[in-house]
Parts: sequence; C-alpha cells; structure tokens
Amino acid sequence: MALLGVNVDHVATIRQARGTNEPDPVTAAALAELAGADGITIHLREDRRHIQDRDLELMRQTVKTRLNLEMAATEEMVGIALKVRPDAVTLVPEKRKELTTEGGLNVSLLRQTLKKHIELLKQGGISVSLFIDPDLEQVKASHRIGADAIEIHTGAYCDAPCAEMRSSELDKIAAAVKAGNKLGMMVHAGHGLTYFNVRPVVGLGGVREFNIGHSIISRAVLVGMERAVREMKALVDGA
Ligand code: PXP
Repeated sequence: MALLGVNVDHVATIRQARGTNEPDPVTAAALAELAGADGITIHLREDRRHIQDRDLELMRQTVKTRLNLEMAATEEMVGIALKVRPDAVTLVPEKRKELTTEGGLNVSLLRQTLKKHIELLKQGGISVSLFIDPDLEQVKASHRIGADAIEIHTGAYCDAPCAEMRSSELDKIAAAVKAGNKLGMMVHAGHGLTYFNVRPVVGLGGVREFNIGHSIISRAVLVGMERAVREMKALVDGA
C-alpha cells in the first residue's frame, strides 16, 4: 500500500490572497493527519507566494507523521532545511514566473550542485528526494549522485490531451518507477494527480508515496478536509 503525502500549499494560497491569518495551513495539516494522511508536504518557494517560514517552523513542531519540504536547490533553502530539519526534502526546479512546478530537475546538468546539497542534507539526517521527469537518464543520474528517493513528475500524464498520449506517458512513468526500484531508491510520484487520474498510476505498483495537493484542497473546500483526504487515501490504497 502506498503512502499519501498531502500538500497543503493551497490553503496558504487562499490565506495569502487576503494577506490575513486564515485559513491556516498548520490547522489543515493537523486535520489531514487526523483523516489518515501519511505525511504533510509543503513547498517553501523562494518568492514565498504561499507557504511562509512561520508555517514551516510551526509544522515542524506539530506534524506527527512525516514532514516533506519541497524546495529549490539553493544555499538559502539548504540552510533553512538544516535549521528546521524536516523529515524529508524534495528538491525541485523553481522559476519565479511559473504557476506551479513545470518540469523535473535536469539532474545530469546540475549534478555538481545537487550532489553537494544532497550530501549536506543527508549529513543533517534528512532524507533527500529529487523531482524528475519519467526519464531513465534522470533516474540513473539521481542514483549516481546519492539521492535516497526520486519523485516522478506525473504532470505530462495528467495533462495528456488524448487516451493514446496518456497511455504513452503512463508507460514512461512505469519504466522510471521500475528503474528507480531496481537501483534501490524509494520511488514517489506527484503533480497534477486527481481523484480521476490517480488509479492507473497506483495500479503500476512500485510507487511508495504519492504527493498530492491541488485536487485534495479543491475538494476539501467543498466537502471538508477529512472527507477529501479519506477519499484520496482510499484510492492510493488501491480501492
Ligand atoms: N510534488 C511536487 C514535487 C510538487 O512540486 C507539487 C506541487 O507543489 C506536487 C507534488 C503536488 O502537485 P499538485 O498540487 O498538482 O497535486
């Protein structure tokens, strides 16, 4: 059975829209855990557009499952991670103008910097995952530089405009999952997953953890956090 990491960034997005103190992503994280989330994921972006440093610090104190911090591979962010000590870090590429993370890391190209950051984070007792496209070269490069885990970017599968392309993207995910497991890394998956498209990815097997945000928070706005998390957890468990 796979684990569900609930990404609560968009609770902070609603708060930041008014620059006020509600809704609080820290409360959302607690409710997600009570509803069965196996972990909480947050992305502290360099522009602080949603999650704030205060959210990270409070969640470090209150999250009882696992706290996974998504962040850019920069010295500032590595410094914050080593100070706050989340259970895990997922390194992601970050562009100021993007609406959300657009593609995976180019691990081969960035290997020197990434290797250095991975070593520092691991020395600090933090498990490190790299967010990559479902590409065998990226999987192998992640293994070579010492990542504990890879998170396969499912965005192209989720956005595929027709069944044929969706099936071809799913095949790429399957191959990357298999390769990651064969190399002994933990394999995670995320980005763009919804209640309607997650099942085929769960069906592949081999994915240890799903990190899902927008779809869960969208449903939670209408039906409540507990029901939204419970319904996604059931799908990730293969129901
Ligand atoms: N995984 C990673 C690495 C991400 O950057 C994001 C978006 O913050 C997610 C998972 C969650 O994506 P979504 O909000 O589309 O479920």
